[in-house]
Amino acid sequence: MTEALTLAEAPGPRGHWFWGSIQERRHQPLQLFLRAHQEYGDLVRLRMGPTISLVSVASPELVKHVLVDHPDVYGKPPRLFAPAAPLLGNGLISSDGDFWKRQRRLMQPAFHRERLAGLTHLMVDSTQRMLARWRARPSSSEPLDIAAEMMRLTLGIVGRALFSTDVSGTADRVGQALGAALEGTNHRMLSLGLRAPDFLPTARNRAYRDAISILDTVVYDIIARRRAGETHGDDLLSMLMAAQDADTGERMTDQQLRDETMTLFLAGHETTANGLAWMWHLLSHHPEVEARARAEVESALQGRPPTVEDLPRLRYLTQLFEETMRLYPPAWIVGRMAKKEDVLGGVRIPASPRVIIVTSPYVVHRNPRVWPDPERFDPDRFSPERSAERPRLAYLPFGGGQRLCIGNNFALMEAPLITAAVLQHFRLRAVAGHVPEPEPSITLRPKNGLPMLVEPLQARA
Ligand code: HEM
Repeated sequence: MTEALTLAEAPGPRGHWFWGSIQERRHQPLQLFLRAHQEYGDLVRLRMGPTISLVSVASPELVKHVLVDHPDVYGKPPRLFAPAAPLLGNGLISSDGDFWKRQRRLMQPAFHRERLAGLTHLMVDSTQRMLARWRARPSSSEPLDIAAEMMRLTLGIVGRALFSTDVSGTADRVGQALGAALEGTNHRMLSLGLRAPDFLPTARNRAYRDAISILDTVVYDIIARRRAGETHGDDLLSMLMAAQDADTGERMTDQQLRDETMTLFLAGHETTANGLAWMWHLLSHHPEVEARARAEVESALQGRPPTVEDLPRLRYLTQLFEETMRLYPPAWIVGRMAKKEDVLGGVRIPASPRVIIVTSPYVVHRNPRVWPDPERFDPDRFSPERSAERPRLAYLPFGGGQRLCIGNNFALMEAPLITAAVLQHFRLRAVAGHVPEPEPSITLRPKNGLPMLVEPLQARA
């Protein structure tokens, strides 16, 4: 058997003698990962300054090794979510180990398709409210930022799904606090340690703390009133409050409910919103795909609003969203850290917080061994027959293994229902000359938004 390579011997670009590839990681991460894998193969090491390494894997087999086969070895990097801790607390995204396992077990039943079916009417209802707003615009010749519209829509939906309350309006105090907390969390996650420490009373730090304290008051108040029997709701919060550990009979404390609902707020809207924004962009440039999508909607719904029962008849819309997430995976990178030494793809991986194992769905989804002509947009790749031919981890918009996105069914019901409801009444057209650039922020979003022309269908008749 051949000896495993050390990290220093692993393939990868040398980069700057001191900084390695840190500048490219900051300014052009998608290109950095894509090119490194094209040049050096399925596993590459990227130096980030003198002490930190990223080990990036891009084949379904290596991704499976890290995400699926060895959960005892590869865990969440402990400091990754520290900047978001004031908002997320110890919720499902940031927790690890036994605590995470117990929470995941408690929460999983609320995310089964049958339970979620009861929430789908509000997905359609929220979309129709958005469409009414679009219809009321004085002129349809002014472009609308579709990325912002999708964000507002999915934020409204996840808020109603959690608490039976729409919090997406920016006019009121809670809406503003939510906006400030989400924006502040993004800023903190992206500043890579280059920000004022939390104890300094800078304007930004104070605004962030104030926003979170307003949200805390609201969420704890909702929980207290539910516990006192003053209010009820057929929503995720009530399912989480009722969830009981099968072994111990324990339920979540108020603090855990608060952390989990904040986490679901954050995880449950920006990803879906950006996926949808990219989908509208792609659709506007592929009239043959749009025509097929419209034909499906017309034949499945015959003019009535979509419901969850229609989803099996809206298969092409689902494929459309799946293919969009192949090209523009909203969660464009997933990170792990080895808790024990391991050999991965012939390279010895030390158990060190300075070695982060990453996989980028953006790169895996362009692996030409699995995806012929990878840049071509073709929703038929996700027909049941063609999907069955691929290795499972060739496609991972929702991650994989035990940390698979808990909201994947939620998103896969929400996206086609929104798409169907919009297609029934509007056509979204690209603004001539505007080419959106993918910005790999926490999620992969169109840089500077996505202006599109929004035309009511009746007006075209
Ligand atoms: C298109 C939409 C979505 C995408 C692309 C997406 C993607 C992902 C990915 C890749 C992960 C795994 C991260 C990792 O392994 O490190 C994840 C985890 C998670 N997602 Fe999603 N997500 C989406 C929608 C949602 C929704 C709608 C919700 C909730 C309503 C949600 C809640 C979560 C939570 C709580 C986790 C952490 C799960 C755990 O570690 O146990 N996501 N998501």
